[in-house]
Amino acid sequence: MNRIRESARSPEKLLDANLNQTGHLPEDTRSCKNVAVLGATGSIGTATIDVVNQLNRVDPEFRWHVCAASGHKNISLLAELASGLDLPPDRVVLSDRKSAHAFGEDEARIRSLGSRVDFGPEALISAASDASVDIVVAAIVGRAGLESTMAAVEAGKRVALANKETLVVAGPVVSRACQQSGAELLPIDSEHSAIFQCIQSSPCPPKKLILTASGGPFRNWTQAQMDVATPKSALAHPTWKMGPKITIDSATMINKALEVIEARWLFGLPAEAIEVVVHPQSIIHSMVEFEDSSVIAQLSPPDMRLPIQYALTYPRRLPCPSPDFDRTKPWDLTLEPADPERFPGLQLGFEVAAAGGTAGAVLNAANEEAVGLFLAGKIRFTDIVVGCQDVLRSHSHESDPALDRLLELDRWARKELRNRFKL
Ligand SMILES: NC(=O)c1ccc[n+]([C@@H]2O[C@H](COP(=O)([O-])OP(=O)(O)OC[C@H]3O[C@@H](n4cnc5c(N)ncnc54)[C@H](OP(=O)(O)O)[C@@H]3O)[C@@H](O)[C@H]2O)c1
Repeated sequence: MNRIRESARSPEKLLDANLNQTGHLPEDTRSCKNVAVLGATGSIGTATIDVVNQLNRVDPEFRWHVCAASGHKNISLLAELASGLDLPPDRVVLSDRKSAHAFGEDEARIRSLGSRVDFGPEALISAASDASVDIVVAAIVGRAGLESTMAAVEAGKRVALANKETLVVAGPVVSRACQQSGAELLPIDSEHSAIFQCIQSSPCPPKKLILTASGGPFRNWTQAQMDVATPKSALAHPTWKMGPKITIDSATMINKALEVIEARWLFGLPAEAIEVVVHPQSIIHSMVEFEDSSVIAQLSPPDMRLPIQYALTYPRRLPCPSPDFDRTKPWDLTLEPADPERFPGLQLGFEVAAAGGTAGAVLNAANEEAVGLFLAGKIRFTDIVVGCQDVLRSHSHESDPALDRLLELDRWARKELRNRFKL
C-alpha cells in the first residue's frame, strides 16, 4: 500500500496570479460582455442565465449577452433557455451526441432564433475558446468539465469557475496554464467567493482559511442510520438546492474535501492553514483569519446568484436577484466542529491537498464513480467514502504528473472503484 507523500513543491496560488497590482483586474473597454455558459441546463447554469438577464436591467456600463449555452441531455430545457434570453445566443451546444437524434423540434426552435447548433465535446471546447467570448462560466458537473475549462484557461478568458473538479483533478496544470495565458480564474463556489471577498479586506496575507459547511442532510444522523440511507434522503439538502452529484457530495462531506483542495490551489495556502467548521444555516459562507487573529467573514442568504454575479462583474458590485436578509426577525448563526468519525470523507480533502500530484485525480474519479453507483442503488451510502479511501491508498502517488497521466489515472480509479464492489 502506498502512502500519499507530502508534495515537496511550494504552494502555488491562482488568484494572485490573476490580479494586477491594485488587486483589480485590468480595465475593460468593450461595451458588451459575451458570456459562454457551459452547463447552462444545470443548477448553476440556470442561475447564471437569471443573473445575466437581471444584469441587463441594472448594469449601466455593459450589455450582457449569453453568446453560447451548452446542455448535455436536457434538450427541452436547453431550447427553453435559449428562447427565453433577451438576446438569442450565437451558438447552442448539445454535448451528448447520443441525445442528438431526439433533438428534432427543439433543435428547430433554437435554429429559428438564428442560433447555430453544434454537437459533441469538441463543440464545447470551441465555444469555450471562441475569440468573441469574454467570460466562460464553467458549470459542467464533474471531470466532464475539465477539457472545456482548460480550453477557456488556455485561451486567456475570464473563467467563472463552478466546476471545482477541474482544480481537484488538475490544480497544478491549471495553475501553470493560467500563468501562461493570463486567464482570470474567479470562484463561483460560495465558500471560495467568500474567501476571495474577505482577503480583499487587507493587503496582508491570511493566516488561515476557514471554510464553512452546512453539514448536509445527515448532520445529526448516526453511523447506523447513514449505513441504510437512501438516495432520496441523501438528496434532501436542508439549505441548498443543487444538482444531484454535489448534493450527495454534501451528504458525505466529500464536497467539503473537494473544496479544501480547491482552496489550496486558488489561494496557495498549505492544507494545514485550511479549516472546516459546520454552520447549518449556510449564511456565513466562509472566513479568513489574519496574523493578528482578526477573523473576517462574508455573509448572505444561501443563494448562488450572488457569487455567480460577483465572478461575472468583479470588481464591480451591482444589485443582484438574490434576496436580502430579513433583519426584522431574530436569526441564529451556529458554528460547530465537524465530526471526523461520522464524516471520514472530509479528512481525505486535507490528505489530498497536502499530497498534491496525482492524488486529486484519483480521489475525484473514485468519488464520481461511487456517487453514480450509490444513486443507481448498487452500493450503500457509507460505501462511497470507504471506496474512495481504498482506491486512494492503493494508487502509486506521483508528484508532478502531466494532464494525460491524470486522465489515465482517472480511468484507472473508476475501474478500481468498481472492482472493489465487484461491479
Ligand atoms: N449547484 C450549486 O449550488 C453549486 C454550488 C457550488 C459549486 N457547484 C459546482 O458546479 C458544477 C455544476 O453543479 P450543478 O449543481 O449545477 O450540476 P447539475 O445541476 O447537475 O448540472 C450539470 C450540468 O452539466 C451538464 N453535464 C452533465 N454531464 C455532462 C457531460 N458529460 N458533458 C458535458 N456536460 C455535462 C448538464 O447537462 P444536462 O442537464 O443537459 O444533461 C448540466 O448542464 C459542479 O462542479 C458543482 O460542484 C454547484
